[in-house]
Amino acid sequence: MKVCVVGTGYVGLTTGICLAYLGHEVTCVDLNQEKVDLLRGGRSPIYEPFLDELMHEAAHNLTFTTDYAEGVPGAEVVFVAVQTPSQPDGQPDLRYLRMAAESIGRTIDGEFTVVVNKSTVPIGSGNWVESILRESFEQFHSRRAAGEFAVASNPEFLREGSAIHDTLYPDRIVIGSDNPRSLDVLNRLYRAVLNQSFTAPTFLPRPEEVGAVPLVSTDLASAELIKYAANAFLALKISYINEIGKLANKVGADINQVARGTGLDARIGSRFLQPGVGWGGSCFGKDTAALIATAAEYSYDMPIVAAAREVNRRQREEAVNKLLDELRILKGRKIGLLGLAFKPNTDDLRDSPAIDIARLMTARGARVKLHDPIAAERFRAEEPELATSLCETVDEVFDDSDAVVLVTEWPQYLELDWGKYVGLMRTPVVLDGRNVLDPQRLSRLGYTYLTIAGRP
Ligand code: UGA
Repeated sequence: MKVCVVGTGYVGLTTGICLAYLGHEVTCVDLNQEKVDLLRGGRSPIYEPFLDELMHEAAHNLTFTTDYAEGVPGAEVVFVAVQTPSQPDGQPDLRYLRMAAESIGRTIDGEFTVVVNKSTVPIGSGNWVESILRESFEQFHSRRAAGEFAVASNPEFLREGSAIHDTLYPDRIVIGSDNPRSLDVLNRLYRAVLNQSFTAPTFLPRPEEVGAVPLVSTDLASAELIKYAANAFLALKISYINEIGKLANKVGADINQVARGTGLDARIGSRFLQPGVGWGGSCFGKDTAALIATAAEYSYDMPIVAAAREVNRRQREEAVNKLLDELRILKGRKIGLLGLAFKPNTDDLRDSPAIDIARLMTARGARVKLHDPIAAERFRAEEPELATSLCETVDEVFDDSDAVVLVTEWPQYLELDWGKYVGLMRTPVVLDGRNVLDPQRLSRLGYTYLTIAGRP
């Protein structure tokens, strides 16, 4: 099928490349010429495992352009995956969505086109996009729209760092539309994923447990709400285990055992019960804020979601307080931070706990030393003030430091030769911000092991 994808961020690019791999003819539109040039040269502007490989394999089905007129006419499906940054009141800024809808409305030709919202957009946005499309179509074509297009919501559940895996082997596909014809079109588009009938890429074999993928077809508003409900639930699951961790700490229980014993109840589930400095990234913070802002429009205050946000904020402070308790004074101390990305396998720094923790430490007069195996380059560009504290090597992070905090659990850090570094430090204090290190082993090596997760 002929498909157009507007926006080449994480979601748009992954969607476009995966659909091209599945055999569709995909044109990706992005107004950023630099990005388009990079993509035309076969290079991805984001760091995401397997994206380059898949782009290479699907190159014959992929076109990149800055011009809507090259992508929209003739496309059966147009995905909109533009950014929706948070505004100060928590509501997402929809100006890019509006601009995209206006341009699509102008370039849609006579064939039936399904315009699909893939960005996480507030409930009601589907209707809003439909009205912009209509206005723009009618203005440009000087005639009434008569069923040339319909709007659908097809929320994305991919995680950064495993975006390709999540797109090819999803837990479910959600399609919301108030127009039955668009469901048929999207069903056809996703057939190979729904039946898992495509040939898996050699570098990303199909996991054994993946069978047919359930299709959840709903009305527009329900699909829009599913996306928020899912992200807020995951966020609150993490905040919940962090809250239980606080109590575990007080009563002398071990949060790892508590999380395991709780999560094995199939009604609860073991995933997303990993305690630590809490969640970051571009989604949970933004989406929980947007959910609260939407509810506020209906005079509801969403107390559970609000509490999850508050617990998450406190977790970052807690990391600093833990070191303060141990070192007594932070002024003049050298504190190393391992990991800047909001989680491993990405160079994304948005709402990363590491940045907040570095700022809080600096505000207390500590000197931070920062390291990340992949995100350092992006950090230099996005955080110029803190970037002067970047270290080239892990050795520098430990050298003469009063404490080191593991903030992002990159595999490289877990495999460090910790015995080698203990002698380099001024005081060998390690704060395990992700609850992934072995306290006994570190103690044997001579470290003082600290955790905020709730381990005795
Ligand atoms: C999240 C969702 O998991 C995706 O399903 C969703 O599509 C995406 O948001 C989105 O809306 O675009 P992502 O933000 O890429 O994906 O990352 P996650 O893997 O969910 O991690 C989020 C944060 O939670 C990270 O900072 C991670 O370190 C933290 N986390 C995760 C924990 O602290 N504990 C856990 O047990 C799991």
